[in-house]
Amino acid sequence: MDRIRDAATILSQAKRVVVFTGAGISAESGVPTFRDALTGLWERFDAQALATPQAFADDPALVWGWYEWRRTQLLRVRPNPGHDAVAALAGLVPTLTVITQNVDDLHERAGSVDPLHLHGSLFAPRCSVCAAPASPVSPTVTSPGTAPGASPGLSPESASGSGSGSGSASGSPLGSTPTAGVADEGRRITPPACERCGGAIRPGVVWFGEALPEDALETAVLAASECDVLLTVGTSGLVYPAAEIPRVAARFGAAVIQVNPQATPLDALAVVNLHQSAAQALPALVEALQS
Ligand code: OAD
Repeated sequence: MDRIRDAATILSQAKRVVVFTGAGISAESGVPTFRDALTGLWERFDAQALATPQAFADDPALVWGWYEWRRTQLLRVRPNPGHDAVAALAGLVPTLTVITQNVDDLHERAGSVDPLHLHGSLFAPRCSVCAAPASPVSPTVTSPGTAPGASPGLSPESASGSGSGSGSASGSPLGSTPTAGVADEGRRITPPACERCGGAIRPGVVWFGEALPEDALETAVLAASECDVLLTVGTSGLVYPAAEIPRVAARFGAAVIQVNPQATPLDALAVVNLHQSAAQALPALVEALQS
C-alpha cells in the first residue's frame, strides 16, 4: 500500500500528467497482449507476420480477416477497472493526456477523451491506395466464434476451399498454413473496396516497418516533454519509437510511475514501480488520490 501512497502523493502534486498504455491495460478485459500467443482460430499464425504491409499485399483477405476477427472480438469485451480508473484520473489532475499503443477502443469506451493512438486503431480503416477513411463495416462474412448473432460462415474464398488468396496454400509467409486442402475455417474476409477509388480497404493500424501517424507522435512527444508525471501502464517498453515516450518524459524531468506485474526495462526509469495488474493498481491509485 505504501507504494500506492507514494505514487498518489507524486500524482497529487502534478500539474500535467501523461498516461502511457500498452496491451497490458486491456489484458483484464480479455484482450490478449501483443506478445501473447495467438489462440483459437489464429493459433497457428504469427501476429508479427500478419501485421505487415507485405502480408496484406500477399493475402489481403487473410490479413483483413484477422483484423476483422480482432475487431469483432472487441465488440464482445468491455473496458476493465483499469480503463475506468484512467478515465477517472482526468477529473483528479489539472491536465491529463492519454497516449496508447493499443488499437482497441477501450479507453474511449471507458470515457477517456481523445486518447492518442500511436499505433492506429481497429476502428479507423482506410483505403490502401488513396488513404480515404472508411467506416468500420460488419464483416462481409464472419469467422466462427465471433460477435454473438453473427452467422458463422466461410468467406467465399475458403468456402470454395480454393484458398484463392495467395499465401493460403503451402509456404504461406504468414506462419504455418492450415492443413493442406482444408478450408481456412472462414479466416479470409475480402476487404471492402474504397468508394472513392475502388482500392482495397486496409486496417487503420500501424504495421511493422510503417511510420507512426505523425501528428499523434508529435503531440505525444510534446506532452511527454512537458509533463510532471508519466504513468506507464501495461507495456513491455520494447517497441520504438513508442517506447521512447516514457524516456522523453524522464529526460525532461518528469517522475515516471510504472504499473506492470512483470519487470520491464522501464523499471530502472520509474521512481515508483507498482508490480501489480492495471485493474488492481489503477483503481487503488485513484482511491488514494481521492482520500
Ligand atoms: P506487449 O505484449 O509487448 O507487453 C504487454 C505488457 O503488459 C507486458 O509487459 C506484460 O507484463 C504487461 N501485462 C500483462 N498483463 C497485464 C495486466 N493485467 N496489467 C498490467 N500489465 C500487464 O505489448 P505492448 O508493450 O503494448 O505494435 O507492445 C507494444 C507494441 O508492440 C504493440 O502496440 C504492437 C507490438 O509491436 C504494433 O502493432 C505496431
